[in-house]
Amino acid sequence: MPAHPSSDTRDRMQALATVCVLAVVSLVIAFLGAAPARVSATELMGDERAPAEPAFVVSHRGGGALAPENTLPAVSAALAAGFDYLEVDLALTADRIPVLMHDKTVDRTTDGHGRVAALTLKQIKALDAGSWFDSAYAGTQVPTLEEFLEVLAPSGRRALLELKGEWDAEAGAALIETLRRHGLERRVGIVSFDPRSLLATSGASELAFRLLILKRLPRDIAQAVKGADARGIIVDWKAVARRPEVVEEMHELGLRVVVYTLNTDVEWKDTVEAGVDGIVTDEPARLLEWQDAWARADE
Ligand code: G3P
Ligand code: CA
Repeated sequence: MPAHPSSDTRDRMQALATVCVLAVVSLVIAFLGAAPARVSATELMGDERAPAEPAFVVSHRGGGALAPENTLPAVSAALAAGFDYLEVDLALTADRIPVLMHDKTVDRTTDGHGRVAALTLKQIKALDAGSWFDSAYAGTQVPTLEEFLEVLAPSGRRALLELKGEWDAEAGAALIETLRRHGLERRVGIVSFDPRSLLATSGASELAFRLLILKRLPRDIAQAVKGADARGIIVDWKAVARRPEVVEEMHELGLRVVVYTLNTDVEWKDTVEAGVDGIVTDEPARLLEWQDAWARADE
């Protein structure tokens, strides 16, 4: 018996080792390819803002100042106007279909009556969601999430979807699946006042981007955000105005700050000076003009 392996044996062992290394590398590449990265705040909202830097502008209720709020005419008008971010409200019907609706009832924005959660999609589709705004919009229907995404997807724009009411894991998973089907998981932020509804989407998608909406600032904001598996807040500007240093505190924690719903240049100035990342407004065209003028004055 030879004391050392023959050169043939050494060659075979080297070849085997090379095959093993290549197999491991392929597995790592396949794994990375199969697990897309989480949507980053920068991907969805651009870089974190410094004080006095223009914020991203969100058209409230889909363009609710241009046409009846949360309807396809409002969405189309906002897209035609060139707004990059649309915010819409989503509520679940009795048969658990997400539709664009702000209020708990259909009374204010349609010619019908009753709670959204007590009406089927068929009943809601029979309502007129345009006449209350202007007779020119008579016959406009309440859109489903599906119909909204069909318009949003080819536009290349982004959206914040606000979950109204309470969403359970089944509704959260269906929402994520709908976003995936439209290829929109990376262009949409999911937002809600209700941390449990945000968490309901969390199990179905680790990569989705979530923001917790707050009327007031809790003492431990980081804990509140983490508890909702969110990566920032949408907060009533009045709460930030009382505690503007919170913007820097949030940024230091790697969390984003968006404020709602501001429609005057006095508020916009204070907001931009505080360094918030985004502003939700009913007046996106005026805010964009104001921010352009603000940036030029700063040059
Ligand atoms: O984006 C947050 C803001 O839309 C919350 O207020 O009442 O208009 O849904 P609301
Ligand atoms: Ca909203």
